[in-house]
Amino acid sequence: MSIKIQTLSGYIHEYQKSILDPEAFWSRVAESFYWRKKWDEVVEFDFTIPDIKWFVNGKLNITENILERHLYTIGDKPAIIWEPNDPSEAHRVITYTDLHQQVCRMSNVLKSLGVEKGDRIIIYMPMVPEAAVAMLACARVGAIHSVVFAGFSANSLADRINDCTAKVVITADGGYRGAKTTPIKSIVDDALTRTESIEKVLVLKRTGDSVNMKPGRDIWWHDAHEGVDDKHKAEEMDAEDMLFILYTSGSTGKPKGVVHSCGGYMIYSQFTFQNVFQYSVGDIFWCTADVGWITGHSYIVYGPLLTGATTLMFEGIPTWPDPSRFWEIVDKHKVNQFYTAPTALRSLQAFGQEPVLKCDLSSLKVLGTVGEPINEEAWHWYHDHVGKGRCPIVDTWWQTETGGILISPIAGITPTKPSYATLPLPGVDPIILDNEGKVLKGNSVEGNLCIKFPWPGMLRTTYGDHKRCYENYFSQFKGYYFTGDGVKRDEDGYYRILGRVDDVINVSGHRMGTAEVENAINEHPRVVESAVVGYPHEVKGQGIYAFVIADMSDRTEANLKREIRAMVNNIIGPIAKPDRIQVVHGLPKTRSGKIMRRILRKIAQGDLSNFGDTSTLLDPNVVEEIIAGKDSALVE
Ligand code: PRX
Repeated sequence: MSIKIQTLSGYIHEYQKSILDPEAFWSRVAESFYWRKKWDEVVEFDFTIPDIKWFVNGKLNITENILERHLYTIGDKPAIIWEPNDPSEAHRVITYTDLHQQVCRMSNVLKSLGVEKGDRIIIYMPMVPEAAVAMLACARVGAIHSVVFAGFSANSLADRINDCTAKVVITADGGYRGAKTTPIKSIVDDALTRTESIEKVLVLKRTGDSVNMKPGRDIWWHDAHEGVDDKHKAEEMDAEDMLFILYTSGSTGKPKGVVHSCGGYMIYSQFTFQNVFQYSVGDIFWCTADVGWITGHSYIVYGPLLTGATTLMFEGIPTWPDPSRFWEIVDKHKVNQFYTAPTALRSLQAFGQEPVLKCDLSSLKVLGTVGEPINEEAWHWYHDHVGKGRCPIVDTWWQTETGGILISPIAGITPTKPSYATLPLPGVDPIILDNEGKVLKGNSVEGNLCIKFPWPGMLRTTYGDHKRCYENYFSQFKGYYFTGDGVKRDEDGYYRILGRVDDVINVSGHRMGTAEVENAINEHPRVVESAVVGYPHEVKGQGIYAFVIADMSDRTEANLKREIRAMVNNIIGPIAKPDRIQVVHGLPKTRSGKIMRRILRKIAQGDLSNFGDTSTLLDPNVVEEIIAGKDSALVE
């Protein structure tokens, strides 16, 4: 296995070496993987384009590193333990041998559907092991998967299908989440009325609900698998071939397809998994994310399976049938490492101590969080009641674009500090810049978080629009990757993420572009203009606050708000529905017409103390009016 840091001095030593000579460091990590052909150069890069290549001319298939590499040593060991939504349904255990057979068979199914290397395939599925099988089969035949979170609307799904001109959709009849059943296949049917590229739809039977199957296009998963061989030779991929596209929100209206490559992502997801969580042979690792997000890609599927680990996959939600569901699963499967989002912890905290205290939880060794800053109260609750004061908490900072964790404690080895992501992992060189691009050296500084040197797991492009990749991440601070996050380096050199400095908000750990939500609101025929900002929300971290100018001649305010929420639900999905909507007559704008979001943010936060310089406002009275109407904002 690749480098595993085991002591604090080992961390310091490896970190220093990795910064002085990153190529030697990453080549040492990469050498422990199976390559069909070794690379010529470790890295070639130019951040001004950007052009980033790792393990140049190296040849591999990531699934050989997951399946063939583990077959003869740990073939009978569980690769995936699947816990269903309903605790009365049996769980499933899939060994590495089973997984190999299932992925090979699915690869042959994909070939029979006409899938070729380089084709794009959408996976729109509930949290069932077949979703992981589908991802791995795509990787095995060289197709590029794009998993779309099954909570996104038909419209969002259609946009993603069209953006990457996908050929196949892999889906299910429906999905269970808590007490709800989602009609997944009918959402796909709706999306496909707005797309032209899809040739085949493969449908897994999960709920048994009746669905429409379009002849010639739609095929049941089980029918397609009938009599199919479970032997398949993996396609040879270049290290820089695309492995997957994952759509994420940015400060502009349309989500962008972040592209990750085969070689670099493989190395980085495995290295970070093994080190941050200090996974040891025989441990059971559980990441509660959905495979539709990057966390699910890197720490349910790729990182653990590349390590030969046992990864637990859960179909349901933390609060159903009751708020001890997470903790009962930990006890049932003797989970050793548990990785979740602060928003889930805050929602469980609200139910008090009883659901957690009644569980044993003594199997836990490491706790992790991801997706948003964790507030100190939630950190202590997690530490004291879930970890019983025994388990280090790794507050892992990273992004869809980074492929894996960049800044985080290494469990039990480097120090932790509540609400701090603490220190960079080896090979990661964080730099703090002020707004003018000046590097802020030393400790006790605050500014924009950038990364100086490439790391293998970083994005390579945004699908179909390389210019957008440059503009989003490499144009603001020349020669650096800009994360979009603000950060503080404290007096001890520990990093604390302060949140986004761009027009992106973080709702329950999900990234949401304010422009994206505004575009959806503006689709309402009576809406003239809108401005969306984030505000602190007790459970979600940030809530969505929309200021809306609308023609109210034939609507009550309550109806308009209901319709706007339904509109956003249809266009993006339930996660983007505004928590508060305030109907206003005007928005604070500069004379050049730019909305002064800074003012709206302060009003939404309830901070009316000091709006700074408002002399450039076109109409300063607008601000007074918005403040006066603040209490009319819908609260749910
Ligand atoms: O603002 C940071 C926040 O989530 C953003 C990335 O979102 P996404 O690409 O959806 O990936 C989430 C899962 C990796 C970051 O720019 N973020 C993520 N982790 C943390 C965090 N903020 C504070 N602390 C974290 N641990």
